[in-house]
Amino acid sequence: MIITIDGPAGTGKSTVAKRLAKDLGFTYLDTGAMYRACALWGQKQGVDWDNPDELTDAVKRIPLRMENDCGSQKIYLGEEDVTDQVRTPEVTAITKFAANNPDVRALMVALQQDFGNRQNLVTEGRDQGTVVFPGAELKIYLLARAETRAQRRFKELQEKGESADFQSVLESILERDRLDESRAVGPLKPAPDAIFVHTDDLNVEQVVEKIKSLMKND
Ligand code: DC
Repeated sequence: MIITIDGPAGTGKSTVAKRLAKDLGFTYLDTGAMYRACALWGQKQGVDWDNPDELTDAVKRIPLRMENDCGSQKIYLGEEDVTDQVRTPEVTAITKFAANNPDVRALMVALQQDFGNRQNLVTEGRDQGTVVFPGAELKIYLLARAETRAQRRFKELQEKGESADFQSVLESILERDRLDESRAVGPLKPAPDAIFVHTDDLNVEQVVEKIKSLMKND
């Protein structure tokens, strides 16, 4: 069985997908981490970002490995665990070169489909219900107002002791929405048969319970 969870940045996809995968005993797949790892690999290989074919060639040789760890995912480049490294602001800034590259996307989509052929999956991203798993048994599209998403991100940064300014957090969320929605291949959009879940007024537990109840109704 495949459950896809798509939606804009900051809607709680990762937290919800991890919790759901753990509760159901399914494998969790974080496809954003795969694009992040492609960009990190490109950087390590010294590719020229102005020449997309260089990144494609590098990604054809990427020693990418995802390991499931009790409802969460560790991502490796060869023997190196890059799970934390792919989430740094530096890698976030270059990830667009991987996510906007149609050849890199084709390679990642094939890997994701292969992953889904072998196990029960809760997979999260932007195009999981539309492009990667159009036949998935349950497709969820998470939504929340930009202000709510920025507030969550702002709180997270404050809790980590990082300096943050609400207005710039909000602007970066809006900018990511624009990038995600305008991508020529695999843009952020709900599948026609996706079920919308608005997370503004729900906590993680409530969203997970809602999805479980949708599984029963399916
Ligand atoms: O979910 P995230 O922030 O880790 O995703 C990183 C980037 O990759 C983000 O800019 C959106 C993009 N992405 C994508 O294009 N397709 C996916 N299936 C997942 C993420």
